[in-house]
Amino acid sequence: MSERIFIGVAWPYASGSRHLGHLAGAYLPADIFARYHRAKGNEVLMVSGADEHGTPITIKAEQEGKTPAELAKYYRNQFIETFQKMGISFDLFTHTNTDNHIAVTQDFFLNLLNKGYIYKDVVLQAWCPKCQRFLTDRYIEGTCPLCGFNDARGDQCDQCGKPMNPVDLKSPHCKLCGGEPEFKNSEHFFLKLSAFQDKLSEWITGQTFWRSNVYHFTKHYLEEGLKDRAITRDMEWGIPIPLPGYDSKRIYVWFDAVIGYLSASQEWAQNQQDPGKWRIFWQKEETRSYYFIGKDNIVFHSIIWPAMLMAYGGLNLPYEVPANEFLTFEEKKFSTSRNWVVSLPDYLSRYDPDPLRYMLSINMPETTDTDFSWREFYRRNNDELVATYGNLAHRVLTFTYKNYDGAIPFPGEIDSAGKALMDKAEETLAAVDRLISLCKFKDAIKTAMALAAEANRYLDEKAPWKAIKVDKAAAGTSLYVAICVISALRTIFYPFLPFSSQKLHENLGYAGEVQSAGWKIELPAPGQKLAVPQPLFVKLDEKLIEEENKRPEHTQAE
Ligand code: MF3
Ligand code: ZN
Repeated sequence: MSERIFIGVAWPYASGSRHLGHLAGAYLPADIFARYHRAKGNEVLMVSGADEHGTPITIKAEQEGKTPAELAKYYRNQFIETFQKMGISFDLFTHTNTDNHIAVTQDFFLNLLNKGYIYKDVVLQAWCPKCQRFLTDRYIEGTCPLCGFNDARGDQCDQCGKPMNPVDLKSPHCKLCGGEPEFKNSEHFFLKLSAFQDKLSEWITGQTFWRSNVYHFTKHYLEEGLKDRAITRDMEWGIPIPLPGYDSKRIYVWFDAVIGYLSASQEWAQNQQDPGKWRIFWQKEETRSYYFIGKDNIVFHSIIWPAMLMAYGGLNLPYEVPANEFLTFEEKKFSTSRNWVVSLPDYLSRYDPDPLRYMLSINMPETTDTDFSWREFYRRNNDELVATYGNLAHRVLTFTYKNYDGAIPFPGEIDSAGKALMDKAEETLAAVDRLISLCKFKDAIKTAMALAAEANRYLDEKAPWKAIKVDKAAAGTSLYVAICVISALRTIFYPFLPFSSQKLHENLGYAGEVQSAGWKIELPAPGQKLAVPQPLFVKLDEKLIEEENKRPEHTQAE
């Protein structure tokens, strides 16, 4: 029976290029999962969009002398282009400044207000007397009262991952001028998170199948007791509060961003000329919702968004929140401000998407942080992707093309070694199926690669390049077996390496999209015409390591 899967992917702040860490953290695993389910014939809706409000955008815009809207639009367009080139196959990638998103957010706000889950209160808000402005979230920095981290921000501490209230920061200072803030009274709206303490605690007991870091973080967070949170800010950039008298305030970026999952689904349905179609992804109980995010976003997806959904009512809660750990770059944290970064536009200006997808899948930071280095990128490309998988396909297809009239040979009787290899292909598909369905992408791609290695061993033993001289039919049989396995690899690798799978699909003489071949082992028809074989991957020159490491900027191609 076909399944229905909703996939929400973290909405990137429209204030900087996406880098390799973001790809490994959320976009790549989401895309692998989406492609796998689509190939299986399941109904998938994968959405995200540019997160355009909040202080990250206003700070950057101020620095660049642009308006927040101009800055957001620039990065939104860059995201769309980058994701498309990287093969991240969103059904819709939108943004948070659409009329639709603003309307859905305001409706959500009023709905919760009317039910008493949003209420007004007066709070102390940091005010910088020198800059003459309220210091929201990231405009204020100080020491984390919980872990002692010196660079904690007003909204969150990046060391312990806890959300912050600016008043709680020790030695607070203004990010713009370094001055000491005063605290002034200001009226704000609060989300009554405390009302969901019991419901969330009960819900989480059913989610023990979550990744242990996500499960334990969430459980621990709940055990500490939920506090209500302000969901409006003193600022001019953001979604207006849909009530008279609050012109100098806006809805907090995190409150509107998570609602993006819902508004984007509705926008997608409108684009499908079927405005009610979003409902099957949000209101049918059997639909499963997955949220792919980095670990710094866990609380928003495992607690706050579920609480908001409970408050609104009638919408599905997350099924899984497979948050990844972090990717480091040459053993250090990625940092755009310190120029320690490889942005995706920069990567794509020199390399193909699949080698990076391979490297980040087999080295995915699923349960621990993992590292990206150019040496490892070079090694994995040449020693694994090219040597094990690419060469397997290329040597078999070029040899067959040349010696068997450009067509798939007719096999004779397949011997036990051939049968064993074909069985292994079936087993591999089943194993990879199970692993991907459990979001274990790293083990899945390792399992796929083991099949390619096995096929190489089979070919080394059969050596059709030699056997052809004495027994062309026997050589044709072993080539046929190898082609069956190569065809299986085209399917099994498809979620991870969509571009090379498509190429292989065409090399094998198939028309159309590789995804439409489905998620099954398809034995190619003997006699089927092959296309002139094209190599799947390129061997990289070792010089790249030094060249990349020399790049003073490691920086963004903008
Ligand atoms: N913009 C946030 C970040 O980059 C992520 C938002 S995810 C959301 O950290 F969908 F919930 F908005
Ligand atoms: Zn200041």
